Amino acid sequence: MDLSNHPKSLITGAASGVGRAFAKHLASQGYDLVLIDKDKEKLEDLSKELSNEYLQEVEIRVVNLSNQSELNNLKDYVSKIDNLEILINNAGFGLSGHFTRNELDKQQEMINVHITACFTLCRVAIPKMVERKKGFIINVSSMSALIPLLGNVVYNATKVFTITFSEALQAELRNTGVKIQVLCPGYVDTGFYNSEELKGFKRATIPKRMWMTADKVAELSLKALKKDKTIFVPGLKNRILLRTLTKGLSGLFVKFFSKMIKKKISLTYLVET
Ligand SMILES: NC(=O)c1ccc[n+]([C@@H]2O[C@H](COP(=O)([O-])OP(=O)(O)OC[C@H]3O[C@@H](n4cnc5c(N)ncnc54)[C@H](OP(=O)(O)O)[C@@H]3O)[C@@H](O)[C@H]2O)c1
Repeated sequence: MDLSNHPKSLITGAASGVGRAFAKHLASQGYDLVLIDKDKEKLEDLSKELSNEYLQEVEIRVVNLSNQSELNNLKDYVSKIDNLEILINNAGFGLSGHFTRNELDKQQEMINVHITACFTLCRVAIPKMVERKKGFIINVSSMSALIPLLGNVVYNATKVFTITFSEALQAELRNTGVKIQVLCPGYVDTGFYNSEELKGFKRATIPKRMWMTADKVAELSLKALKKDKTIFVPGLKNRILLRTLTKGLSGLFVKFFSKMIKKKISLTYLVET
């Protein structure tokens, strides 16, 4: 039984980077937190910091999301939370290199974390949110998923899943009070790039102005929950870059005119309810 009256938020990959920034913002907004990660020490440090600073209830759970039995335990736990208001599927990691040269186990692990864990937690959390007619889900994808042919095959494919899954889910959940956002950041200055898997990546090749802080990404994402859009790319520079790369500059004008048309013709998804 939950004795706190505060709304609850559960964040995966909460021990560092964007997940950690989400945790800080939500604690400052009065949310009790359930923080999931595989790094116990980092989770404990963050929990102490947040409980001291914001006096919120902070629960930590050490879970390797790529492990099916650990994910099953988490699934059972989440299915028993009655007041989960925000679920953030943020855990993830990168891989670089050729599809056939990456370790198969690492690629499988990536599919488990980016796809299976995200799907499973949405599947158990949403029914209760629908019952309460209130809930927010942020699924973290990547801007690279919106730019075909750039980057790593499995990373991009799993992040494309996150986008398609979230958009379809949002369409199906319209009028239920449950809001889905799929967050597509560009370059975020986190430990993401320090991993063994990305040791070939050279930060200096990316212009400084293209980097965002994890704090800014989390802040903008939470603000954007109030907007009526599912795909959210944080940062104007990222949105301009994306539009230029995918549609060319003419895309800006196409978007402008299609917005005007959309005001007259309501384009809705055709889904069974
Ligand atoms: N940084 C970027 O430029 C960027 C751009 C676009 C999208 N993203 C996405 O943003 C999300 C957050 O990334 P970030 O930049 O904040 O990276 P980060 O600082 O490395 O944080 C990711 C967190 O996820 C955790 N994690 C990874 N695999 C896990 C597993 N199997 N089980 C439990 N936790 C696991 C990591 O734990 P460990 O530290 O113990 O591995 C880490 O705490 C990811 O989904 C990433 O794909 C990042």
